[in-house]
Amino acid sequence: MISRRTIELVNDTARIEEVVGDFVSLKRRGSSLLGLCPFHNEKTPSFNVTPAKGIFKCFGCGKAGNAVRFIMEHEKLAYPEAIRYLAKKYQIDVEEEQQSEEVKQELAERESMLLLNEWVAAFFEDQLWNTESGKAIGYSYFKERGFTDDTIRKFRLGLHPDGWSGLTDTAVQQGYRKEYLVKTGLSIERENGSLIDRFRNRVMFPIQNLSGRVIGFGGRILTNDKKIAKYLNSPESEVYHKSSVLYGIFHARKAIAEKDEVLLVEGYTDVISLHQAGVENVVSSSGTSLTADQVRIIRRYTQNVTILYDGDQAGLKASFRGIDMILEQGMNVKIVLFPDGEDPDSFARKNSPLYIQDYIRSEAQNFITFKTSVLSAEAGSDPIRRAGMIREIISSLALIPDPVIRALYLKECSRAVDMEEQTLLLELNKQLRSLHDKKPYRTEQPPEAPPDDLFAGDEGEQGLPFREVQNDTTTAQERDIIRLLVRFANKELVFPELDEQGNKVEHLMRVGDFILSELEADEVRPLDPVFLRLYQLFLEAANDVYPTDAQLFNHEDEAISSMAIDLSTDAHELSEMWQKHHQIYITTEEDVLKKSVHTAVYAYKLRHVQHMLKEAGEALKQMGPGEEEEQIRLLEKCMALQQAKMEIARHLSYVFI
Ligand code: CTP
Ligand code: MN
Repeated sequence: MISRRTIELVNDTARIEEVVGDFVSLKRRGSSLLGLCPFHNEKTPSFNVTPAKGIFKCFGCGKAGNAVRFIMEHEKLAYPEAIRYLAKKYQIDVEEEQQSEEVKQELAERESMLLLNEWVAAFFEDQLWNTESGKAIGYSYFKERGFTDDTIRKFRLGLHPDGWSGLTDTAVQQGYRKEYLVKTGLSIERENGSLIDRFRNRVMFPIQNLSGRVIGFGGRILTNDKKIAKYLNSPESEVYHKSSVLYGIFHARKAIAEKDEVLLVEGYTDVISLHQAGVENVVSSSGTSLTADQVRIIRRYTQNVTILYDGDQAGLKASFRGIDMILEQGMNVKIVLFPDGEDPDSFARKNSPLYIQDYIRSEAQNFITFKTSVLSAEAGSDPIRRAGMIREIISSLALIPDPVIRALYLKECSRAVDMEEQTLLLELNKQLRSLHDKKPYRTEQPPEAPPDDLFAGDEGEQGLPFREVQNDTTTAQERDIIRLLVRFANKELVFPELDEQGNKVEHLMRVGDFILSELEADEVRPLDPVFLRLYQLFLEAANDVYPTDAQLFNHEDEAISSMAIDLSTDAHELSEMWQKHHQIYITTEEDVLKKSVHTAVYAYKLRHVQHMLKEAGEALKQMGPGEEEEQIRLLEKCMALQQAKMEIARHLSYVFI
């Protein structure tokens, strides 16, 4: 493990403009630098680098981060690898931290298995290229399948020789331990303790991880014998976790990021043949159904997934779960079907690269049309079965976190199943409610509420003492609170306050102290998990110096660092916002800040009180005869809340005087 000291040193030393400048040509524009974004296609530059803050942000695609994050994204490296990259650039010695014996041993074991796999992959290649039988059996097999020499080399294809224990014996002779031969699954231990080869007489497909290391193998028989399993794969091990493996990711990662799209296929040979045809943004889940881990890996590179299915229609329904998993992560999914009897591999072999690319582009359909066509074949015109089909389609829709995208697909759905949007919306809302009841947090971001909303009157429904809030989530308010903490927590300001008699008093306090003490006193904390984690970081530091924005940008938890960057680079600046919303002309920045902090805190509290009022009001409506005592208690609660609400409103309006 890289020591904390090294990480800090790298973060302090790396100059964002130099790190980015190695890849992007930047021009000075005021206090920042501007260039063409390397993460999306653009003609006019919107990629901003701010040396003073050590961060970049693209106002086109929204990508943002510090130097480490830039290298991770641009070079597709994991966190420690990016630190090493920068350490090398700035000639910083990487200090490795002392690890516990246990961790050390685990690492040593993993490393031994990876070294063995690497040697074995090279052994299989050597067999294929340099032995008589290898050339006659393995090489000619791949040639027959249409693979070029370059392709065979690129994917490191090889041959496992026939015989009982040829590989095992050679490996042991070379000094590799039996223990690791068994653990990697290359050898199988028999009852009498002797070892035999697992993959005898197969052509071999090494499986590489993101950084190209060989973590496992797939081996295919050389015939089309239906009696033997066509493919054998390495068993689950410390280095090979089937559920998080994407075959081809090492060769595809750059193309995926460049094209901002990944093609998902079923088999090893589909990946290889598409590559050979010039389509490089392709990976395979190797015969298993897509897992959540695999989707998360893909999400690091792109939001856009296109699934390529072979012509056999029978298995299509089994694909629905995978589609839902992609939608659930807020990603986009399209589906391409191949002609009957063809898989991407056979299709790629029969057609020109240009035609293949064109086919994929023109045949891609969205999940609504895909699900509709698969299901309506089954449902026919039976109304009950058609209703079931519509519910099934809506169930996918309900998983999409973004309400705008959801609404667009609802329109699409209404067209596809030929039914009024309004009717579909009822079903969608029903499903959304039951989903929400199951979720501990609401993660969806509501639209920013206009500030005027805070001062609206008290005309409650049926004379109840509360006002129905349109949107009772508090995310927008939470965001504002956390933004102020991230940017100004350590800044000291004179805060105006009202004392018990309503007189104005003044306190000198840090922005962070004011916000935290106000919220803690009322026991309100952010609901959004990322905001809550940030809030807790500030709470932990309350008696000390609050974390600065620069420290948060460098936080190793990506969720924290990108949120902090996002919050500090909000497009509109404080004063602009104030002038726009309130037509107030504010002179000093300090003034603006003071008012912002005040409003943010009380607006947030107001939201909470309104929410509680609404709940109490709803409970009141449910009450029947015989529950008078409870009714009175609730009414009292409503009155107290109403009181609190007036109090808050007084604080809020005070700010504006
Ligand atoms: N697979 C497997 N074990 C099997 C069959 C298939 O692990 N017994 C996996 C392999 O990763 C394979 C993928 O499922 O690549 C898709 O299977 P299939 O479509 O049957 O194979 P193809 O990739 O078309 O293989 P080939 O063209 O070599 O026949
Ligand atoms: Mn095939």
